[in-house]
Amino acid sequence: IPVDPFDLVLFGATGDLAQRKILPALYHRFEVGQMPEQARIIASARSDMESHAFREHVRSGLRDKPEVKAEILDRFLERLEYVAVDALGETGWNCLREMLRPDVVRAFYLSVGPGLFPEIAQRLHDHGLATPDSRIVVEKPFGHDLESAKALNEGLRRCFEERQIYRIDHYLGKETVQNLMALRFANSLFEPLWNASHIDHVQITVAETVGVEGREAYYDRAGAMRDMVQNHLMQLLCLTAMEPPSKFVPNAVRDEKVKVIEALEPVEPGDIARGQYRPEKGGDGYLDHVGNPDSRTESFVALKVHVANWRWAGVPFYLRTGKRLRARESEIVVVFRDPPHTIFPNVGHLHGNVLVIRLQPDEGITLSTTIKDPGPGGFRLADVALDMSFAEALGGNVRAQDAYERLVMDVIRGDQTLFMRGDEVEAAWAWVDPIVHAWEDSRDRPSPYDPGSSGPEEALMLMHRDGRRWRQIG
Ligand code: BG6
Repeated sequence: IPVDPFDLVLFGATGDLAQRKILPALYHRFEVGQMPEQARIIASARSDMESHAFREHVRSGLRDKPEVKAEILDRFLERLEYVAVDALGETGWNCLREMLRPDVVRAFYLSVGPGLFPEIAQRLHDHGLATPDSRIVVEKPFGHDLESAKALNEGLRRCFEERQIYRIDHYLGKETVQNLMALRFANSLFEPLWNASHIDHVQITVAETVGVEGREAYYDRAGAMRDMVQNHLMQLLCLTAMEPPSKFVPNAVRDEKVKVIEALEPVEPGDIARGQYRPEKGGDGYLDHVGNPDSRTESFVALKVHVANWRWAGVPFYLRTGKRLRARESEIVVVFRDPPHTIFPNVGHLHGNVLVIRLQPDEGITLSTTIKDPGPGGFRLADVALDMSFAEALGGNVRAQDAYERLVMDVIRGDQTLFMRGDEVEAAWAWVDPIVHAWEDSRDRPSPYDPGSSGPEEALMLMHRDGRRWRQIG
């Protein structure tokens, strides 16, 4: 179903994110007919450039992708115009205003550093570009701590209302992350068991094989806690732990997520493991990559978290994320309690079922079950997995959509469900701040770990000492 005609102004259009994610996402939505012919993308950046030169720039990035069709790409590029705008000065704003049409959806996408959000918002307002219905879209990092996040919120809210502000966490645009809500709230099987009476613990892993090359300066200031936990892992935790919203509408969903964050207990220092990847054999490690031999920034973090409410009392959530790990793998593992009593003689201890929700790659769901080992011998039990890969179950012809395709179209549709609300971001920072500040105040260094491993020994110990084990990465 096509969305309404729109003018999307893309600031930072020559930047990496715009070229790698946003423009390809728009191309794909155009290809399937969701982006109407009357839609326009007005790309903007500081450098002087003609529209045709910008189109060629975009063409050269897209044309070699196997799924891109030359004839459709030509038509897509006709939707693109370019205007040079100085985000910190006065140049270009009037020209931009004259290009905008009065009777279509208007969205401003700020694919720029967060320091520019308030500046651009102010100029959009002062130059009369922002209308009461226009939308403003911002990317992470949304601040560096609670104070800076509050300042960004204030800066944006001076010129736009909360209903107009779309804060992207691209994990919420991932198909399988949304599927988590379908799994929980569109099935009657899981929800009655989704609580402390039946669940022993939950593991959330976002493991990456990439390092920090290319973004050294930003990453060394951020670290895994700010770069991944404050946003992506927190979102996964919220969707796993939240109460059922009364409706799948923006504020009902976001209210429930905020309640989860507000219920998080402060984390004990002993419940956190920090790591930094060592040099590869004959290669470089984290410290070489960031060019800072004294860096105490973590490229890995694991922590044990408690959601202090009725549903989750006593159920630990173990979170971990890191760079240069054994495999690229994101999953949520729900470990159910052991059966309370064994009726079978000589089978040993029975263990609880494990539900694995695989977010990437190979999205799907696996439920471990215990069955009778077939055969006429004695009565033995065996573990088998009920395994569903979404790609197989839904047929091979469903192209995996990038998160940005969904999110950009939701902006045009005016649906904020998959975007973070201001109070949600602030609540997440309020919980993260004491952890990172304690690290900054201490002289302790993160523990080194080998590239290609599952992280430092301490992360394993975090579970071992509770008599539990991480699911293996890779
Ligand atoms: C980004 C982080 O938000 O998410 C990166 O800044 C990280 O450090 C990336 O690599 C992971 O996203 P995805 O979609 O590849 O899991």
